[in-house]
Amino acid sequence: MIREILKMGDPRLLRVARPIDNINDPGLGAIIADMFETMHAAGGVGLAAPQIGIDLRLMIFGFESSPRYPDEPPVPITTILNPWMEMLTEQTEDGWEGCLSVPGMRGMVPRVTRIAYGGLLDDGRAFEREASGFHARIFQHEFDHLNGILYPRRIRDMTRFGFIEALFPDSALAALEASSGGTPAQAPAADPRA
Ligand code: NI
Repeated sequence: MIREILKMGDPRLLRVARPIDNINDPGLGAIIADMFETMHAAGGVGLAAPQIGIDLRLMIFGFESSPRYPDEPPVPITTILNPWMEMLTEQTEDGWEGCLSVPGMRGMVPRVTRIAYGGLLDDGRAFEREASGFHARIFQHEFDHLNGILYPRRIRDMTRFGFIEALFPDSALAALEASSGGTPAQAPAADPRA
C-alpha cells in the first residue's frame, strides 16, 4: 500500500525515532513492503519509517540501476532495523540532495565520504558494511531521518538551496518535476531523493 509521505513542517519528522524492541513483530513485514512501494511510486532511492509517520528506527534504500543516476554505481537494496553508523574519516564532500519530504527542492549538503554501518536485516540477522561516496551519502541522509534531522539543516551555504526548476532550469529533472509532479527520470549526478 502506498502511504502518504509527510512533508517538512510536520512535527513527526522531528522526533528521535524509537528502537524496534520486537524484531518478530508480525506488523513489520507489511510496513517494510509499504515503504518500498511508497519509495518506488515516488521515484525515491531511500525512505525512513518516520517519513510515513511510523515512529521506529527502520530505513530502506538502494537501487540496482536507475536512469536517474546514470553516473552512480548501484547501491545494494537494503532494509535495516535499528541501524548504527560510524564515521571512518573526517573528510567530507559536497553533493546535491533532495528528499521526498521536501518535494521540488535541492540543497548542497556535505557528508562524510567513508562510513561503516550496520544493524539488523528484516530476518533479524545482524550485519555490517563499509560504504563510500553516493552509498554513504544515502545512508547518512536516511540515518538523519531517524534522529529527526532533515537535510536542509545540514546545508552550510544557503545560497545553494532552492527549487529544482530554478537551480537546474534546463535539466531533464526540472522538466519532469514540472510535468509529472515529481518523478524524475534523470537527475544531476549525486542527487538522492530520499
Ligand atoms: Ni529524506
